[in-house]
Parts: sequence; C-alpha cells; structure tokens
Amino acid sequence: MALIPEYRDDVPRVERFNWLARFSHWGHTVTFLLCLFTGLVLFLDGVNWLAAIFGGYRGAGLVHRVSAVGMTLVIGIGMVFGFKGIIEWIKDLLRFGMNDIKFIMIFPLEFLGFPVKVPPQTRFNGGEKGNSIVTPTCVFLLVLSGYIMWFPAIFPVGLVRVSYWTHDIAMVGATCMVCMHAYLGSFHPGSGESFWGMWKGTVRADWAQHHHAIWYKETYGDKSEAE
Ligand code: HEM
Ligand code: HEM
Repeated sequence: MALIPEYRDDVPRVERFNWLARFSHWGHTVTFLLCLFTGLVLFLDGVNWLAAIFGGYRGAGLVHRVSAVGMTLVIGIGMVFGFKGIIEWIKDLLRFGMNDIKFIMIFPLEFLGFPVKVPPQTRFNGGEKGNSIVTPTCVFLLVLSGYIMWFPAIFPVGLVRVSYWTHDIAMVGATCMVCMHAYLGSFHPGSGESFWGMWKGTVRADWAQHHHAIWYKETYGDKSEAE
C-alpha cells in the first residue's frame, strides 16, 4: 500500500510551486529537522542515544549551529530571490474570508478522512493560511532568540534569559504545527496530492480544481490541459 498518493502522469497536471519555492521549502525542512533533533538533545534529559547520532552533546551543539546558519541562508535566499512570490503569498493570506472559515469548520472531517466538499479556496486554504502565519512566526522567533542565545555577550542579560524561554516555546509551537502539516502534506488521503506540488512542482488538475477552485480558475481558467 502506497503511503503517499500515487504520482499520476497520465492525467492533466498544473504547476503549483516553482523550483525556488521548492528549494526553499525542502532546504528549510531539512535544516529545521536537524535543528529540532539536535535541539532536543540539549533540551531533554537522558537522551544519550539521540546525542550519539550527532557524535555526542558537543557534536549536537555544533550540528545545531551549522544547521541554524543553513536555515538562515535558505530563508534569506528564498526571501531575496523569491520576493515576488512572498508578496503574492501575503496577498493570498489577506484574502481570508467566509470560505476559509467554512473550510476550517469542515476541516476536522477532512482530517479524519471523511469525503467532504471543500468550499472554493484560493491558492492556500483556510488551514494553510493559518499555518502560513503561525509556523513562520515561530521560526522567526526561533531565529531571533537563537542568535541572541548564541552571542549572549552583546545582549542584555534579561534579553538572553527571555530568549531561552522564547526558543523553547517557539520550538514546541513549530513542532506541533509541523507534525500536523507534514501529515496533511504527504500521507493524508485527501490532501496528500499536494506533496507532488511541493516535490515535483505539479498537482493533478482535477485535485487542484476540487481543493483550490478559486486559485485554479484564476490561474488556469479553462486551460485544464496544462502539461
Ligand atoms: C537560526 C536558527 C537557530 C539558532 C541560531 C539557534 C541557536 C541555538 C543556541 C545558541 C542554543 C543553545 C545551545 C547550547 O546551549 O549549547 C540553542 C538551543 C536550542 N535550540 Fe536552537 N537555534 C535555532 C533554531 C532552532 C530550531 C529551528 C529549533 C527547533 C525547532 C531549535 C531548538 C532548540 C532547542 C530545543 C534548544 C535547547 C534549549 C534549552 O536547552 O532550553 N533551535 N539554539
Ligand atoms: C517534514 C515534512 C514536510 C512535508 C511533507 C511538507 C509538505 C508541504 C506541502 C505538500 C506543502 C504545499 C501545500 C500546498 O499545496 O499548498 C507545504 C507548504 C508549506 N510548508 Fe511544508 N512540509 C514539511 C515540512 C515543513 C516545515 C519543517 C516547515 C516550516 C518549519 C514547513 C512550512 C510550510 C509552509 C509555511 C507552507 C505554506 C503554507 C501551507 O501550505 O500550509 N513545512 N509543505
């Protein structure tokens, strides 16, 4: 049994994410997960087995800092070269309206795998709009507090202390969001097709029409034969 919905190239497909968005997303995912697992070594007691994977506690601290710099670079590259895409993303979030609220209300049913009729959604549905605000905010707090913790000598003592709390709370928030998000964007039977949009760049046209009807109509109109 395939866990991720089968990739179908015998049906019409439409572009969902360009290479820069995919590079930023997966670069960010790999460095985020490395930061998470090495951070957990520092955060939890008695996880020698996890520390051993990174060559011990010192190794975990080093991998954490290297991944943190990698994550900062990936985010920086995505923001500079994908500036137009980020503006489009923000514009889409500002379109939050009644259909997004309806989506959020039926979302528990969709999450549990019941077949639901998704109210017409823009590029990102109501849940993704929420994720687009909460997760990047947590990541921003992680980056900010992380560098303050890294270079404590140049910041006031109180700020360094608050940064430890901020780092921990943002880590828990981002991790909860990412767990749900990663499931929805891969193994979930209804929305798993979105994985191919982020992996190969395209999704099935019929899926896009069903899950993102407004975006599909505005972007592709009647040209459903794309690719
Ligand atoms: C630019 C990004 C980041 C920077 C600069 C950064 C920096 C740091 C630093 C300097 C420490 C203290 C290390 C030590 O005591 O040896 C730390 C700890 C930690 N980091 Fe990060 N980090 C970043 C991103 C992340 C991310 C994305 C996560 C998880 C999702 C994370 C989770 C943790 C955890 C759990 C700890 C342990 C905190 C504690 O002991 O209370 N960090 N980080
Ligand atoms: C671990 C595995 C992950 C998988 C399988 C995954 C999958 C996906 C997919 C398929 C999309 C596109 C959804 C669409 O069609 O609109 C997406 C978007 C997104 N991803 Fe991920 N992702 C993962 C990790 C992460 C991580 C670690 C972060 C940030 C810390 C993240 C942040 C986002 C954001 C902000 C979006 C745009 C909003 C949204 O669609 O919810 N993802 N992801």
